[in-house]
Amino acid sequence: MNTLELNALYKSYGSHRALDNVSLSVPSGSRTVIVGPSGSGKTTLLRMIAGFEFPDSGRLSLNGQVLVDSTHEVPAHQRLIGYVPQDGALFPHMTIAANIGFGLSTKGSEKQQRIAELMDSVSLDAKMAERWPHELSGGQQQRVALARALAQQPRLMLLDEPFSALDTGLRAAMRKMVARLLEDAGVTTILVTHDQSEALSFADQLAVMRQGRLVQSGHPLDLYRYPGDEQTALFLGDAVVMPARIEAGWAHCDLGRIPVNNHRNNSAANIMLRPEQLQLVSVLPSDAEAAGCRAVVTDRDFSGNTCTLTVELQPLPGENAGRSLLVRSSGMYAPPAGSAVQVSTIGHAHVLGEA
Ligand SMILES: Nc1ncnc2c1ncn2[C@@H]1O[C@H](COP(=O)(O)OP(=O)(O)OP(=O)(O)O)[C@@H](O)[C@H]1O
Ligand SMILES: [Mg+2]
Repeated sequence: MNTLELNALYKSYGSHRALDNVSLSVPSGSRTVIVGPSGSGKTTLLRMIAGFEFPDSGRLSLNGQVLVDSTHEVPAHQRLIGYVPQDGALFPHMTIAANIGFGLSTKGSEKQQRIAELMDSVSLDAKMAERWPHELSGGQQQRVALARALAQQPRLMLLDEPFSALDTGLRAAMRKMVARLLEDAGVTTILVTHDQSEALSFADQLAVMRQGRLVQSGHPLDLYRYPGDEQTALFLGDAVVMPARIEAGWAHCDLGRIPVNNHRNNSAANIMLRPEQLQLVSVLPSDAEAAGCRAVVTDRDFSGNTCTLTVELQPLPGENAGRSLLVRSSGMYAPPAGSAVQVSTIGHAHVLGEA
């Protein structure tokens, strides 16, 4: 059972706190994804798990074996943890085959065979075996780094933005392939990414970091629907956030009355809806008394199968301008800019906490 336990990890560089009380449990065989803005401590955390950084305090264990605490420090090469660093970090003076075979204990044809299998598993052409790292594209180098880490048959694999140099199509294909490869090998995986859709699709468990702190973790769908605060909501996708008065399971806001999933009675709070929870119905401009919420489409951003619309609600009495909202609609049938529309909502609104 490969359960990685991080307990109250702290790490400072001078006066800068890179990790601030980070605790997380990574279940055996799972895929955990860490997301967060640049500088939030993601790489520092991976390097600490791999054994290239040591915490100022805290505890790290794998399968019940303490890797680091105030009295123990298991060195990196004894941890059986695969690490693909953010820049790939291939050995520049070794061929691709030698890079991949670096940690293999086998020799001769058996070793060559294993290298060929590993290259095949990450979709690298066998012809590349004798090339040098500088003769490969960034994406190919990332795959060599992945094959090199897989060669160690690690019990835990750490991937720091491993697909960042790939174009969108190849990136999705690689992500699926790597997920399958690691799952078949039963390797517990932690992946760091900046890409929100990659995070949501790859993860069984998603962890959000900000300023060295792990602010929220859980199932990706739960984090997408029930983010703890506005920053987390916006980090995982577009969001419509507006003030509301919460009463008996309902939010009263500029869109009318919407059911909320988390009750907080008789209080003022910000609520969040995802743009795909808003629906538009065109109305005739003359139909001024139409029921529901009246609005005008002010912008239409067509991107093929979907369309992101900006709509402005009718101003409330005494206000100069109405609230602007994002709405996600099917690309082909979205109303053009200037259309008068009614806005309705699907599902529950989520009451946000303070950031
Ligand atoms: N060796 C170091 N010495 C001093 N400061 C460091 C060191 N390593 C990291 N830091 C600082 O710690 C913070 C966290 O860095 P880290 O590399 O973990 O961020 P990150 O979340 O991986 O960012 P990115 O998304 O840009 O890769 C940053 O402010 C960084 O400047
Ligand atoms: Mg990083």
